[in-house]
Amino acid sequence: MKQKNYKRTTVTAALPYANGPVHIGHLAGVYVPADIYARYLRLKGREVLFVCGSDEHGVPVTIRAKKEGCTVQDVVDRYHGIIKKSFADFGISFDIYSRTTSKTHHQFAADFFKKLYDEGKFVEITSEQFYDEETHQFLTDRNIKGECPRCHAEGAYGDQCEKCGATLSPEELINPVNAINGNPLVKKATKHWYLPLDQYQGWLEDWILKGHPEWRSNVYGQCKSWLDGGLKPRAVTRDLDWGIPVPVEGAEGKVLYVWFDAPIGYISNTKELCEKEPEKWGTWQQWWQDDETRLIHFIGKDNIVFHCIVFPAMLKAHGDYILPDNVPANEFLNLEGNKISTSKNYAVWLNEYLEELPNRQDELRYVLTANAPETKDNDFTWADFQARCNNELVAVYGNFVNRALQLTQKYYNGIVPECGEPTDTDKATLAEFASVKDNVEKLIEGFKFREAQKEAMNLARIGNKYIADEEPWKVIKTDPERVKTVIYISLQLTANLAIAFEPFLPFSSAKLREMIGLQIVDSGQLTVDSCHADCDQQSTLNSQLSTVNWEDLGKTDLLPAGKQLGKPSLLFSKIEDETIKFQTDKLEATIKANEAANATVAPVKETVAFDDFTKLDIRVATVLECERVPKMKKLLKFKLDDGTPKGRTIVSGIAQWYEPEQLVGKQVLFIANLAPREFKNGLVSEGMILSAENYDGSISVTTVEKPVKGGSQVC
Ligand code: 2FM
Ligand code: ZN
Repeated sequence: MKQKNYKRTTVTAALPYANGPVHIGHLAGVYVPADIYARYLRLKGREVLFVCGSDEHGVPVTIRAKKEGCTVQDVVDRYHGIIKKSFADFGISFDIYSRTTSKTHHQFAADFFKKLYDEGKFVEITSEQFYDEETHQFLTDRNIKGECPRCHAEGAYGDQCEKCGATLSPEELINPVNAINGNPLVKKATKHWYLPLDQYQGWLEDWILKGHPEWRSNVYGQCKSWLDGGLKPRAVTRDLDWGIPVPVEGAEGKVLYVWFDAPIGYISNTKELCEKEPEKWGTWQQWWQDDETRLIHFIGKDNIVFHCIVFPAMLKAHGDYILPDNVPANEFLNLEGNKISTSKNYAVWLNEYLEELPNRQDELRYVLTANAPETKDNDFTWADFQARCNNELVAVYGNFVNRALQLTQKYYNGIVPECGEPTDTDKATLAEFASVKDNVEKLIEGFKFREAQKEAMNLARIGNKYIADEEPWKVIKTDPERVKTVIYISLQLTANLAIAFEPFLPFSSAKLREMIGLQIVDSGQLTVDSCHADCDQQSTLNSQLSTVNWEDLGKTDLLPAGKQLGKPSLLFSKIEDETIKFQTDKLEATIKANEAANATVAPVKETVAFDDFTKLDIRVATVLECERVPKMKKLLKFKLDDGTPKGRTIVSGIAQWYEPEQLVGKQVLFIANLAPREFKNGLVSEGMILSAENYDGSISVTTVEKPVKGGSQVC
C-alpha cells in the first residue's frame, strides 16, 4: 500500500467549537475513528502525531457570551476545559490538545496570513454589508435575524433558518435586524481580503478528481460538486471584535475569518508540542512540510469543503506545506431518529453520559463504531446500545474471556497449562483466527472502522464457539490432558483479543492485559525515529510480563506454558433496563420541553359581550362515578353530584388521557345549560365538562383550587 513509503503520519481531528460540550455525534463522526487510527499506527510501531484543540473564535461563542452575560473568554475557557476533559475521559489519545486563543496560534496564524498578503495571494474586494448605525458595527451572517423567506418563521439567522433548515444569505431575510439588540440595519461598504479560489480551480480538479479517486465517495462527490459549480473567491477576514486581528495596516476592527485560522491551528498546535518536547517530537516542520509525512484529516461531512478545497488552497498558496493524503469524512449520527442539536439540547453529552454510566467508555466507543456513519447517516438508539452491550460485549467477548480465565484459575491455579498435540478442530480454530490480523489491518488502513471492529469481534466469536464446543468443564472428568490444550488455545485467543481490541476498546484491553500480564508497546509515547514501520519488536518474557505490539496479533504463543496469570474479573457487565429507560425518558423530556418552548398560543377568539358570557351557566360538580363506554374508545361516562338530588350524567371524549378511577372524587367544571346531546348508542350527555388542551394536544380536566359544594356557580 501507498502508506508504506511514508515515514510518519500526521493525524488531525477537527477542532471542536468551544461553544458547548461535545456529544456522541462528535465522538462517532470524528474523534473515535481518529483515535482508532492513531492508536493502530502507534501499535504498528509507526511514527504518528495526533493533534487537536478547541476552535475558540467565530460568532457562536460571542453570541453565547452575550446571552450568558459573561465575557467571550469566560465562555471559551469553560468549554475548552469541559471538552478537553471529555476527550481524556473517553481515551481519545491526542498528543496535544491546545486551543486557538493560544499565543502561539495567534502569532502563527497572523504570520501565515501576512505571508500570503505580502505575496499578493489575496484579492481585496469592497462590498456592501449590513451595518448597525447605533453600535457602529458590521454584522456577520449569524448576528443578523429576520423573517425566513421560505417558511416565514421569525428569528431565522442570516446564514440559516433553524426552523425549516434552509441555507440563507442575509439579503434574503425579510426585515433583517441586529440579532443581539433588534436594531434596524443599513447597507455600508467594507473592504475584505479574499482567497481567489477560482484561480485554484484547475489545480484542485487535478489534485482531487484525478489524484484522489480513492477518497470516500461521499467526500469525492462533494468535492466534485463544488468544483463543477465553479469556485468563487472566499473572504478570509470579517468585521468582528473577537478573533485574530488582521495583521495589516488599515484593517482595524477586522479579524481573520474563523475558518481561515482554525485549520492553521493543527499546525500551530504541533509547533507548541514540538517546542515543549523537541527531543521527543522533533520539529513541527517535520510533521507538516516533509514529503515523507502523510497527512490525514478526520472530520464530519459539514467540514469537507474547508478541508478538501479551502485549506489545501491556503497551503498551496503558501507553498511550503504537504497536502492531505486522505480526508475520511463521516456522515451524521442521529439520535433516536432525530437530528442531534446543540441549540435544542437534544444530544447525549459526553460529560453527562459518564456521570450517568460511569466507567462505561468502551461500551459507548464500541456501539458508536458499530454504528459509525461512514457511508450514510446513521442512528443511535438506546435500545441498540443495550442490545449490543449485552449480546455482544457481555455475551460474546466478556463471556469467552471470563470462561477461559476462570477455568485456568480453577484447574491450574492461574498458570498457563502445556499445549498437547492439537486436534483437527484446534488446527481449524487457529487457522481461522490467523487471518484476523490481515483483515483488521486492511480495513483500518482503508478507514473502514466499523467493519474492522466487526472483524475483531469475530475473534471473540471464534473463541466463544470453540470453548462452547469443546466443553472443557465436562471433558475434565474424562480427559484432563485434553483440557490443558483447550485452555492453552483459549488463552492464546484471549491474548490476541487484547491486542486486536486495543485501538477500539483501550480501557477493556488494558484491564484484560493486566489480568494476563501483557504489556503493550506504549501507544502514546513513541519517540520520533525510534521505531519505524519495519521494526519487528519481539515478544519478550520479562519476569512474566511480556511486551507485545500489533505484529504479535495472530501468534499462538503469546502466553507461554507456566506463566502465572492475575486474578480474573468481569470485563463487561450488563446494561439494565432502568438505565436505558432513564436515558430515553430524558430525551423525551427534552423533546417535550422544546415543543412547549416552540408552541404558539392560539389566537384569541372574537370579542363577546358580557351579557353573552353570562348566558353560559358554568358550575362545579363532584365526580361520583366514572367509567369507560363499551365500544366507544374515546368516551368516559361521568355520574356527577351537581347539587341536585337526581345528579347528572355527562359523557366526555377524554378517555385517551385518563383512567376512570383517576377522576372519581375530583371536582370538575361543567356547562350546566348546554342542550343535551344524544350519542349513537342512546347515551345522553347532559352538559359538558371543561378541559384545557395543552400545546401537544393532551387534555387536562379543569378543577377548583378549594373544595366547594356540588352545583356552585362559576362567576
Ligand atoms: O465544525 C466545527 O466544529 C469546526 N470548529 C471545525 C474546525 S476544523 C479545523 F479546521 F480546525
Ligand atoms: Zn425557514
